[in-house]
Amino acid sequence: MFEAVSDLVESDVPVGPLTTYKLGGPAAFYAEAGDRDALDRVLEAWRGTGLPMLVLGRGSNLVVHEDGIEALVLRLTGAFGEVTLDPDSVRAGAAVRLPQLARAAVAGGRLGLEFYVGIPGSVGGAIRQNAGGHGRETRDVLIDATVLDASSGDVEARSVADLDLGYRHSALAAHEVVLQARFAFEDGDPGVGEVRMREITRWRREHQPGGTYNAGSVFKNPPGDSAGRIIDALGLKGTTVGDVAVSDKHANFFVAGPEATGSDLYRLVQEVRARVYESTGVMLEPEIQFEGFA
Ligand code: EPU
Repeated sequence: MFEAVSDLVESDVPVGPLTTYKLGGPAAFYAEAGDRDALDRVLEAWRGTGLPMLVLGRGSNLVVHEDGIEALVLRLTGAFGEVTLDPDSVRAGAAVRLPQLARAAVAGGRLGLEFYVGIPGSVGGAIRQNAGGHGRETRDVLIDATVLDASSGDVEARSVADLDLGYRHSALAAHEVVLQARFAFEDGDPGVGEVRMREITRWRREHQPGGTYNAGSVFKNPPGDSAGRIIDALGLKGTTVGDVAVSDKHANFFVAGPEATGSDLYRLVQEVRARVYESTGVMLEPEIQFEGFA
């Protein structure tokens, strides 16, 4: 199917190792594109295949079924991983890691992006889910994102309004690929930004189960409440399906062990959701994107 771009597209590539949960089977096709030329070649070959596309960032909110997915999984690398300090913005390629973005901005005396230091995602993923934490979200700092429509090949700059960024939400379709984003900043003392980043890192270490296989918050917070507080109040910490458990440290983090499968996690999510609904009438919505599940 991708003979013309066999230097860029591989078949049957395990997706699990590319995600923070380390769960999941193979993608039917997998491509890495390190620059626009490579990306354009892959997309040209993809058009007309009828295959769904899944753009993968750092895999920090994605779980793929252990049987794999019939899709083209696309990952940007290389030149998409650069941060540039332009006069009026901090510009970052879609593959830039969010902690890297925060640190590069602070080192250049550009403040306001420190909240990204604890988010294990990419710039592309931050746009797609309006990533946030510590009182700020991507929509508060984004000037615009350059988006490529893989179906048409059209590229355009999209504002926060165009992207419809809301709480852990954007209007981006699966075949729309973020190429880069421009962020606003305030001039400031790098030392001030470093202190703020250290505080955020310390807070996360104290409150969240870092160093384990997880994908951050499993559910979005319902309006006016916290999914973690609700799950904890129901005594569900430690609930287990297979080798996945509700974390004892933070109830909205589910932690996977070495024998875990994507289905263990998926079933635990369904079980906790059902128990929260029965007890409180609140229907929690997952923040994690599940691919290949019924
Ligand atoms: N709480 C409990 N028990 C728990 C966990 C939390 O009672 O097991 C209580 C806490 O004591 C606190 C409240 O619930 O009163 C909220 O908890 P926390 O401050 O940890 O924040 P959160 O709402 O669970 C949100 C984001 C996180 C982000 C933090 C810090 C969502 C779904 N989660 O967590 O984002 O890091 O705030 O800003 O919005 C993510 O999206 O993946 C993520 C980690």
